[in-house]
Amino acid sequence: MTSESKIVYSQNLCSDVRPLLDGLTPEQIFIITDTGSSKYCLNALLSALPELKGARVIMLKEGDENKNLDAVISIWRFLVENGATRSSLVINLGGGMVTDLGGFAASTFKRGVRFINIPTTLLSMIDAATGGKTGFNFKGLKNEIGVINKASEVIIYPAYLQTLTKEELLSGYAEMIKHALLSSENDLMELLSSAPSHIEPEMWLEIIRKSLQVKENIVAVDPMENGIRKALNLGHTVGHAFESFSHQNAMLEGGKPLSHGYAVAFGLTVELFLSYKHNGLDNRLLSMVNSYIREHYGTYSIGCDDYESLYALMLHDKKNSAIGAVNFTLLSKPGSPEINRTLTKEQIFEALDYFRDAL
Ligand code: GLY
Repeated sequence: MTSESKIVYSQNLCSDVRPLLDGLTPEQIFIITDTGSSKYCLNALLSALPELKGARVIMLKEGDENKNLDAVISIWRFLVENGATRSSLVINLGGGMVTDLGGFAASTFKRGVRFINIPTTLLSMIDAATGGKTGFNFKGLKNEIGVINKASEVIIYPAYLQTLTKEELLSGYAEMIKHALLSSENDLMELLSSAPSHIEPEMWLEIIRKSLQVKENIVAVDPMENGIRKALNLGHTVGHAFESFSHQNAMLEGGKPLSHGYAVAFGLTVELFLSYKHNGLDNRLLSMVNSYIREHYGTYSIGCDDYESLYALMLHDKKNSAIGAVNFTLLSKPGSPEINRTLTKEQIFEALDYFRDAL
């Protein structure tokens, strides 16, 4: 289920996507999108490729709280009721929620129908749409159920970025900072000397290509995440705990949960501190990244009373290899990740103390 996806970097959907559709000769096309992405991106796709006007559209409710089994069932039901076969094609048009849910539903329907991802957010272009991870949230845990199965094609069309808010761009930029940390100090400096809302539209294609290459190189070596792919988890052990925790609080108390990219940015702060403290990372790099995150992402407010809940969430991280231990990816310098580093509860709590002081 994990053959390579082809990534198409496109400035023109019509000339770049039409030959792909012709080559796949689908019997029927289904477009899965959500109420947010459909506003501009679906119309732009249908204008560029009028032949898709006959496709059946499955509209999901936007928002990570809707990334659940009910949404998957609604997709399967629509596919059954509209006569989808194994020769059908699913096009996932949207952010990470759509590509994760649509990819999972397509991968499991009739044991797998082909799907194309057309990510519409920077976050999904940089991460969710490539590499084959699909799935949904379950029992308050991020992406707890899923399969790894790559899209036949991933279309990166940076013109969609023009519709995003500054916060949405920053959310994707956090994953780019993570890729740069896994690549080199030069790549990191380039990102930290700019901000996503200052990047000229014509520059995005190359910037995204460079960042995605870091992920592609890692995934090519370890597609099923048995080893080095866990390096892509940098910032995510703590980031996912912050994100799930913020969703739980939003359900109980209202308010806005953290977006994935912001949670990763804050998770990076904690995990770079752990890298400094336990893996020899230069303090200068920790300070530089943290100043950038503080200036652009602000902070996330947690208290000492929250540490146990956050730790419990970290214990559920999928990359943990033993019960009762939390696995981290730590850096010794940019481009040199070390996976499967377990740290004690006291060490993790010390890093949460640092987070509260530093941000
Ligand atoms: N999101 C990290 C990975 O795809 O492995």
